[in-house]
Amino acid sequence: MEIHVHTIFPELFSEFVKTSIVGIAIERGLVNVYVHDFRDYSDDKHRKVDDTPFGGGPGMILRCQPVVDSVREVEKKFGSSRKILLTPSGKPLSQTMLAELSREKSISLICGRYEGFDARIRTILGAEEVSAGDYILSGGEVPAMLIAEGVTRLIEGALGSEESKEKESFEDNLLESPGYTKPREYEGHRIPGILCSGDHGKIEGWRKEQSKLKTREIRPDLYEKHKRQHCD
Ligand SMILES: C[S@@+](CC[C@H](N)C(=O)[O-])C[C@H]1O[C@@H](n2cnc3c(N)ncnc32)[C@H](O)[C@@H]1O
Repeated sequence: MEIHVHTIFPELFSEFVKTSIVGIAIERGLVNVYVHDFRDYSDDKHRKVDDTPFGGGPGMILRCQPVVDSVREVEKKFGSSRKILLTPSGKPLSQTMLAELSREKSISLICGRYEGFDARIRTILGAEEVSAGDYILSGGEVPAMLIAEGVTRLIEGALGSEESKEKESFEDNLLESPGYTKPREYEGHRIPGILCSGDHGKIEGWRKEQSKLKTREIRPDLYEKHKRQHCD
């Protein structure tokens, strides 16, 4: 799979692509991450990528030309991709969306800055808008990393045996049950005894129950979805 990131801060990705799951997946040849700088595509002699908003108002807007040309030129070289504009007003990122994206051959993650993109960019590129959540960051780079990492760990062979994507939170609209490791007691806090019982059936049942309790308490919205799915 190819992940193309378009940004004015390519340097933010230099450690990211070498580290942990993404670094391992790149080494294993499962994923390629290419980072492109909008400024390299700007027709302005000072490599400017932004301008003042029509109609007035604070801040600067990312211009069409460098953004559109950056994506188009890269697609000319690498082939077409599913194009995603990172914006707070986009469709909220979810595990379902990550799973869907992980099945694409190529995705382009287009990072905004300042007051965001010229609104025509979306239409011109035929891009979709994705949000990392209902909050405002200063740029789309961290959301692009969220997507790159979330997608990469779903690619077959990317995860080592120490990390499993089985039974993680959001499977079945439930949060994951609590996990514990050694020692059995720490500062007076003991782990639930059932986990040392050796009875795998009981442990599985306990985990399922804990998972439901936790979801009901922390994410009642998810719990309702789970109940509707299972009619229980
Ligand atoms: C300061 S924000 C612009 C916010 C814009 N004026 C608005 O209110 O929608 C600058 C850039 O950060 C990125 N960004 C900020 N919050 C985001 C979020 N929750 N999800 C995805 N991208 C985000 C977007 O790329 C955005 O263009």
